[in-house]
Amino acid sequence: MGVLKAVVVLTMVSTVLLSILWRAALDSDGNQTFIQCLLDNSLDSHPISSAIYTPQSPSYSSVLESYIRNLRFNESSTPKPFLILTPLHQSHIQAAVTCGKTHGVRMKIRSGGHDYEGFSYVSTLPFFLLDMFNLRSIHVDIENETAWVQTGATLGEVFYRIAEKSNTHGFPAGVCPTVGVGGHVSGAGYGNMMRKYGVSADNVLDAVVVDANGRVLDRQSMGEDLFWAIRGGGGASFAVIVAYKIKLVRVPERVTVFQVEKTLEEDATDIVDQWQHVAYNLPEELFIRLMLDVVKSRESGEKTVRASFVSLFLGDSDSLLSIMKERFPKLGLSKSECIEMSWVKSVLFWSNIPLDTDNRVLLDRTPRTLDYLKRKSDYVREAIPKAGLESIWKKMIELETPRMFFNPYGGKMAEIAAEEIPFPHRAGNLWKIQYLANWKEPGVETANRYIELSRKLHEFMTPFVSKNPRQAFLNYRDADLGSNYHGKDMYEEARAQGVKWFMGNFDRLLKIKTEVDPSNFFRYEQSIPVLPSQQNLDASV
Ligand SMILES: Cc1cc2nc3c(=O)[nH]c(=O)nc-3n(C[C@H](O)[C@H](O)[C@H](O)COP(=O)(O)OP(=O)(O)OC[C@H]3O[C@@H](n4cnc5c(N)ncnc54)[C@H](O)[C@@H]3O)c2cc1C
Ligand SMILES: *[C@@H]1O[C@H](CO)[C@@H](O)[C@H](O)[C@H]1NC(C)=O
Ligand SMILES: *[C@@H]1O[C@H](CO)[C@@H](O)[C@H](O)[C@H]1NC(C)=O
Ligand SMILES: *[C@@H]1O[C@H](CO)[C@@H](O)[C@H](O)[C@H]1NC(C)=O
Repeated sequence: MGVLKAVVVLTMVSTVLLSILWRAALDSDGNQTFIQCLLDNSLDSHPISSAIYTPQSPSYSSVLESYIRNLRFNESSTPKPFLILTPLHQSHIQAAVTCGKTHGVRMKIRSGGHDYEGFSYVSTLPFFLLDMFNLRSIHVDIENETAWVQTGATLGEVFYRIAEKSNTHGFPAGVCPTVGVGGHVSGAGYGNMMRKYGVSADNVLDAVVVDANGRVLDRQSMGEDLFWAIRGGGGASFAVIVAYKIKLVRVPERVTVFQVEKTLEEDATDIVDQWQHVAYNLPEELFIRLMLDVVKSRESGEKTVRASFVSLFLGDSDSLLSIMKERFPKLGLSKSECIEMSWVKSVLFWSNIPLDTDNRVLLDRTPRTLDYLKRKSDYVREAIPKAGLESIWKKMIELETPRMFFNPYGGKMAEIAAEEIPFPHRAGNLWKIQYLANWKEPGVETANRYIELSRKLHEFMTPFVSKNPRQAFLNYRDADLGSNYHGKDMYEEARAQGVKWFMGNFDRLLKIKTEVDPSNFFRYEQSIPVLPSQQNLDASV
């Protein structure tokens, strides 16, 4: 025991020492030789110099802040990169990997910057940022029902470019238009069509990556293992993903949406109870998200829980109403609450953008508001007894924050095998819970208060959610699951986290990681480690 502790302490000390040494190296001329390496590795046809920003560059701060999507990481105390590289060509990515590796510097990869824990652009160790926003071309091929999408594109741009060419095609992906393709698709990516078409990563046909050796590879040359890993395993453990080829899906010319709200005084408990038993079992064309938050009752002025049901139905309102009457009568949906529109307009509806706004709003790469954020996730495998619901309401009213979103699975989600891609949350999962805390005031103390509230509700939900492992959704990044692999325990720690996100798929990811990136160049706080036998503790800086 004493020996083990000594080893751990020694490892920690050497890690700190090494990081101090690195900082010293970079502060003298480390960045200069690194820059020289980038210049030496760039092609005359595609000069790299205009893609380099150092803290001395006038636009360094604005480039860095442009894709910070969680204000918790926009503080002056947030560690900043010693250099930002904004590739204009894939050869710039190759140079980044080659130089990052030879200089032993950490690289963070950012596409849309929506990582809830800032893992794409923050690190406590010296690092440079590879920022993909310039690489965002989208080529839609309606004839073949496919599109090549560079990872710096946003979901809104993808949706818009598809709709521009066809009103009967779409893509199953997240509902927030500013989310980036790179993180979203490589971490699975779900949205309101998942019950019909699965997650985004289920609809990927090919990809172009730059691997740990700086090679540009496609599906054929990377092989099926790496191609499997980058469809849900989190791209940044394996390679820089330059582009995905996605499969477009068919949508009707008119879809129907609704949002209906009920408080506890309006029988929310009974309605939620019925939702629990039907939502995962409805026709695949129908997705009904349940959002729970605490509001002031209109009647009593007391705090109450509000259940909001927001829906996308791939069909017309008459068909929707007949399904709802038969399967979910307690909601009492009426025709006047249903709105028919094109699929692309439904994206605006789901983003709370007024429906008379031009669809070009989807091309806006900056969100309308930014908040301080904390997210957590859970999976539910059995309906919660009514008494359980009542106790949850009580707890929510006591805490006020966070809100919860319940996203029903079933349909196609339950049909796809758990091993098909690294994302494993398939049959048996009735819905996913997202815990949401948003706030507006800066400061560490405020942040800690909201983070603590999120942990409390998550803790309270323990009896109602999956166990052994307690599953979690990778794309809802949560630092509470642990971070930074250092020293002897890193493998066991990684496994404890990894099975939550990947369950039985963790071992295959570990094997692939060890094969494609044995020196562990592609690493971040929650990345997949290399197998212990290959571990080089010196390289764990
Ligand atoms: C407002 C908001 C709404 C959201 N809505 C949804 C939703 O509806 N459905 C859903 O599934 N998720 C949703 N998410 C979560 C989102 O899918 C993830 O945060 C996703 O990782 C963001 O991708 P990004 O490119 O914007 O993020 P980034 O912060 O740029 O990247 C996230 C992770 O992916 C890595 N990465 C990014 N680009 C690449 C690349 N090119 N190659 C290799 N690795 C890369 C990063 O290093 C980091 O680890 C939402 C997040 C926010 C903030
Ligand atoms: C390298 O970093 C140091 C300290 O941050 C800075 O003073 C110096 O100007 C940097 N050099 C370049 C070329 O950016
Ligand atoms: C992020 O921080 C910078 C520097 O303090 C500030 O100028 C900027 O307004 C902040 N961004 C947002 C969206 O608050
Ligand atoms: C569709 O795919 C085929 C085969 O890959 C290709 O030859 C054809 O050019 C594609 N169609 C378009 C419009 O690009």
